Amino acid sequence: MAGAAVFASSFKMMLSFLLFIFLGLVAAEDGLDGWLRYAALPQANRYHHLLPSDIIALNSTKSSPIYTAGIELQDGFNGIFGKKLRISHETRGKPRSSVLVGTLDAYSNLGRDAGDVPELEADGFWLSIKGRNVQIVGQNERGALYGAFEYLSRLAQGDLKPTTFVSNPDAPIRWVNQWDNLQDGGTHGSVERGYGGPSIFFKDGFVKDDLTRVGQYGRLLASIGVNAIVANNVNANFTVLSDRNLEGLKRIADELRPYGVQLGMSLYFASPQEFGGLDTFDPLDEQVIQWWDDMTDKIYEHIPDMAGYLVKANSEGQPGPMTYNRTLSEGANLFARAIKPHGGIVMFRAFVYDHTTLNQTLDWKADRANAAVDYFGELDGEFDDNVVVQIKYGPIDFQVREPVSPLFANLHKTSSAIELQITQEYLGQQCHLVYLGPLWKTILDFDLRVDDKPSAVSDIISGKRFDRKLGGYAGVVNVGTNTTWLGSHLAMSNLYAYGRMAWNPRAGSKEILQDWTRLTFGLDRRVVDTITKMSMESWRAYENYSGNLGIQTLTDILYGHYGPNPGSQDHNPWGQWTRADSDSIGMDRTVWNGTGFSGQYPPEIAAQYEKVETTPDDLLLWFHHVPYTHRLKSGKTVIQHFYDAHYEGSAKAQTFVPQWESLRGKIDKERYEHTLHRLVYQAGHSLVWRDTVNGFYRKMSGIADAKKRVWNHKYRIEAESMKLSGYELYAVDPHSTASNATAIVTCSNSTMGIAETTSPFRSGTYDLAVNYYDLAIGRSQWELFVNNRRIGTWEGDSEYVLGHAPSIYIDGISAMRITFPRVKVRKNDKIKIVGKPDGDEPAPVDYISLLPPGKAD
Ligand code: GCU
Repeated sequence: MAGAAVFASSFKMMLSFLLFIFLGLVAAEDGLDGWLRYAALPQANRYHHLLPSDIIALNSTKSSPIYTAGIELQDGFNGIFGKKLRISHETRGKPRSSVLVGTLDAYSNLGRDAGDVPELEADGFWLSIKGRNVQIVGQNERGALYGAFEYLSRLAQGDLKPTTFVSNPDAPIRWVNQWDNLQDGGTHGSVERGYGGPSIFFKDGFVKDDLTRVGQYGRLLASIGVNAIVANNVNANFTVLSDRNLEGLKRIADELRPYGVQLGMSLYFASPQEFGGLDTFDPLDEQVIQWWDDMTDKIYEHIPDMAGYLVKANSEGQPGPMTYNRTLSEGANLFARAIKPHGGIVMFRAFVYDHTTLNQTLDWKADRANAAVDYFGELDGEFDDNVVVQIKYGPIDFQVREPVSPLFANLHKTSSAIELQITQEYLGQQCHLVYLGPLWKTILDFDLRVDDKPSAVSDIISGKRFDRKLGGYAGVVNVGTNTTWLGSHLAMSNLYAYGRMAWNPRAGSKEILQDWTRLTFGLDRRVVDTITKMSMESWRAYENYSGNLGIQTLTDILYGHYGPNPGSQDHNPWGQWTRADSDSIGMDRTVWNGTGFSGQYPPEIAAQYEKVETTPDDLLLWFHHVPYTHRLKSGKTVIQHFYDAHYEGSAKAQTFVPQWESLRGKIDKERYEHTLHRLVYQAGHSLVWRDTVNGFYRKMSGIADAKKRVWNHKYRIEAESMKLSGYELYAVDPHSTASNATAIVTCSNSTMGIAETTSPFRSGTYDLAVNYYDLAIGRSQWELFVNNRRIGTWEGDSEYVLGHAPSIYIDGISAMRITFPRVKVRKNDKIKIVGKPDGDEPAPVDYISLLPPGKAD
């Protein structure tokens, strides 16, 4: 009997273990909960006796973050341990084995000794975990919620260790910006530079009726310490001020309030005229001042805790104070004074430059990078104390590598905030894995040496360096209705890292990533190590294949900001120039001979960037114009470094696929497949990048690759060299976005094309890759045959699947690859592609590659 009982109980254990594994693996996960999944810990039951039995949340108002904290803790315990805890809102008669969460005031009112709690700053918290007795005390309500999320993050990572500590935010401003348009339409749908679907906030010109996703977003943001969000685009529209939309914004604020996330608003500078019917929007005009005062009062009637305004003025076509010859500070102060009585602040963007008159050919000294300091430097001291100048991390625009904006070092009497971009506009639009933690860390840690004293960017924006009360962070996120939020599961590490770094810029980007991975994908060591490794390698890989040595992301800056097009940088007034010619490349930004930009830094840094010898190779072409044959510190020439880096970067991107595949079975199928699809795409597109950029500079410089790879692809068969019927040649522009500058397209939009050839290669097993173009204007179909065996068929539907800015052209945006692994092909076997056009998409093909296993070309 005893034996049978033991057998029965171990059978039961085994069954529950298997059930656990089974559930763990098959439970579909769509990403909606991000890192707040509260997934069950293995054998969670064994922890039950170590856990509190009650939750005491010292506020019973439903809109209070404390109330939210109670619910969140309850959900967390239930999910992680399968243990249901009761919530109450008072301590009377409650056992000591409880989680108590409340503000410092509420805690003291209980008669507890607040002397136990060290000093807390606004939004800070004290967390004390002593076995079954846990206390979470916030300086304010949201601080307490942050403490609850911190505790839950530990539990979800299997960490039950006792501890007592205080956590205060490094900076008061930890905002996110969404670039959501109220109206659908435009080239990028309703979220400008958003790659996760349409807006969760707006539709057809108004705030949406169903704001469920807004609350869910607020929850994610609160868990990483974000305290405000601006939902409407910086390229603002006055319609946001209509009565119906103010009513809608109030509903958005109501959704966010339980999470301690305040709402801010982007304003359109010319609203008094275009919306208010005045004949001016001059910031010094009495009527205009009155109009904004009244409007601000009205807004605060709807949203009494509105965080503040965000203003983009006199930039990229936006109106602003300079329209009336007023200074930017006069413009900013207009709003600052209107909002001051309500306790709000104004985030005034430093992204001001003239994109219409810069002339590259005529003016060696012209430089968009100079604009921020030129415009704002002399206004230091002119801004009211509730204005914060919001500065992009680099002087141009979210490039893969830029030096720190020198404006941070030039504003001593003005509060500043750094603007980071979570949405990967120039960095692969969430279709390329690029973990940005290390990039941001490089910027935040950078010591600007103001007055020869330590002046880390993080200490400037926190207000510590220049003794400012305000300052902090603004992150452009641009989530959409996609359940993954950003369009990609792995890209969410960037949102998580943003919040964590804004709270504590000293935290390591790798440690943050590991926390995120455990919370998002579970505690399995292999999973954590693999995702950490891939992600930590991804920024450098992307830099290597997209634009290195400080030349910027060589993407198509005139269209989509996505695929490669190095020629698009120059000879237009946008000022993202490389000044590449047949002998030399780079922007001379020196004081002695160039645009003078290096002189905008404090002397120690200026001296370093002024000379080629002391400029780090990573930024060489940002600061200097040198011959392609210039030797880097590595001993390589610039041009050879280009070739090698593009090969190295794209080779690294190939490794992400097998790394991810090694996790098959350890991650639920839904997220596994979704991510795999993107990594395979990235591997293919990284080759498009490599060949486009290398081909472009090969042609421009006339210098061959010492390793004989560029323009020499021995596994390739060009489509134009195949026997064609119903297909014709097409000269691709930009030329380097096609192998040999030529592709094939069907002769008409309605009849199919056939391209045939015979394999010139030795009989064997090959990965058969086809490079083709998937345009946004049709769903062509392709079929690939070897002899008469159909190897595969695919559709040009990536514009519905990938989420990046699509292209209507045959170019580096639409170029992509599909690979059929391990196909047996004998010498002289017939290889055939059949393309069926659709809409205006003429089933274009660039080349096929027969790759021996392990080769990528
Ligand atoms: C970039 C981006 C624009 C955006 C602008 C800004 O130029 O491409 O879409 O409006 O930055 O930050 O204001």
